[in-house]
Amino acid sequence: MRSRYFLALPILAILTSFSLQVLAADSPPKGLSSEQRGYWFLTQKTYLPPDFTQDIFDKVWTKWPETLRSEAEKATPEERRKLAFARYGLTPRPEDPTKPLQYVVDSKGNWTMNCFACHGGKVAGKVWPGLPNSHYALATLTEETRSLKFEQGKPLGRMDFGSIFVPLGATNGTTNAVNFGVALMAFRDKDLNYHDDRLPPRMVHHDMDAPAWWHFARKKQLYIDGFAEKGHRGLLQFTMVRSNGPEKFKEWEADYRDVYAYISSLKPPQYPHPIDQELAARGETAFRRVCAECHGTYGKNSSYPELLVGIEDIKTDRARLDALTPKHRDSYGQSWFAEHGAKNNINDPGGYVAPPLDGIWASAPYFHNGSVPTIWHVLRPKQRPVVWRRDEDGYDQELAGLQVETFVTLPKEAIADWQKRTYFDTRAFGKSAAGHDFPLQLTDDEARAVLEYLKTL
Ligand code: HEC
Ligand code: HEC
Repeated sequence: MRSRYFLALPILAILTSFSLQVLAADSPPKGLSSEQRGYWFLTQKTYLPPDFTQDIFDKVWTKWPETLRSEAEKATPEERRKLAFARYGLTPRPEDPTKPLQYVVDSKGNWTMNCFACHGGKVAGKVWPGLPNSHYALATLTEETRSLKFEQGKPLGRMDFGSIFVPLGATNGTTNAVNFGVALMAFRDKDLNYHDDRLPPRMVHHDMDAPAWWHFARKKQLYIDGFAEKGHRGLLQFTMVRSNGPEKFKEWEADYRDVYAYISSLKPPQYPHPIDQELAARGETAFRRVCAECHGTYGKNSSYPELLVGIEDIKTDRARLDALTPKHRDSYGQSWFAEHGAKNNINDPGGYVAPPLDGIWASAPYFHNGSVPTIWHVLRPKQRPVVWRRDEDGYDQELAGLQVETFVTLPKEAIADWQKRTYFDTRAFGKSAAGHDFPLQLTDDEARAVLEYLKTL
């Protein structure tokens, strides 16, 4: 009897040290706060299968068009990495510039997309986690890495296959993210078991600009139509790929309580340039008269009404509203993500919620589809450009937003798909820049003052 115990102990020790090692790669260092753990999980732990390897990323320049390819060929590895980051809308992590904010890179060199792919970007050249990534070129990155994997006989990933059925995004900085959710949810029952005998759902493809995460704390209901009540479980829907079953979601629930705490803790960046305070004060008066009823008040005794505005009043692009049917919303509402119906789920919202405007200077382009490049163009509907293209880091202080070139139609040079994606064409389906005409109640002078005021939020 005794000798058996003696044998069992070392085996137990080996087993526990093994499982501790596995855990060590998966769990944050001790002593972090819940918020800090949330950031750790997002940047260090993978919840999805990998997208590509370091080796593929380092050689993807061989798939670039001329003259960029020759430029990359002559460049140092460091310069080449910068070119690749710029081409695909990736940024260095603030605390570790050798790694991208938008992908988890593990010790084996696997790159796996994380939430910051869409929810972490830069403004005026400064990286800010929680800022919508207005540069992300998911479709171009997927096409070019896939082409290289194909050439090298490497296995293809979920995006490589997924993009054959669901377009990833037609304009850089926006994605068809809502339909990724629709496509994946259609195969799940309310307990999130996967059923491969179901038919793929009907989808209305359209691209969206991700919302700023620093508004999360002010909201009760999420998404542009406010259909889903906030909760940590719902955050896990973005990890819903076939290989993740109900037991995975339960296992990760604790991680996502921390992610919830992290997102709740975020603050907007401050406007980095001088502000005309006198003009801004006049702007506040006009803002209170025309805008506050929907967008709330700021500063001392701030308030946020979280007001749902009917589509016939807001008149911005309605593709997003129609793309999610009452049935889609209800299947989310009945599922584990929404605590089987215990959460407030609005199946037929009929419009869009006026978002909070804190940090609005930083989160250009505007509206849920990212169709309007500056605040000035939000305020002056008739001046909105038909087609526009932004540059890499420029910030337009006068119009408050992206530095853009504007066009009356798509230029003839935009032939390849990757080139077309660098232009925002408001005539395309789901990309209309119309609507939200309320600022017409402001004179041009008042609009200039309101713009100055918005920089202070
Ligand atoms: C491919 C891009 C993409 C990725 C990756 C992504 N999101 Fe989003 N996210 C979006 C878009 C687009 C919306 C807006 C959807 C809408 O309003 O219908 C959104 C909305 C949200 C919202 C609602 C915010 C609000 O103010 O209403 C939260 C919270 C959120 N995402 C969290 C996450 C988390 C957590 C992850 C990672 C686990 C993640 N997202 C990954 C694109 C993305
Ligand atoms: C009747 C309600 C209502 C009024 C009044 C109103 N807005 Fe809005 N606003 C909305 C809604 C709803 C949206 C979201 C539209 C969308 O994304 O399709 C929005 C969007 C915006 C956005 C873009 C937000 C983003 O993150 O993309 C800005 C900026 C804005 N409004 C500023 C103003 C200003 C300034 C005024 C006053 C001159 C004003 N709004 C008046 C309802 C309103």
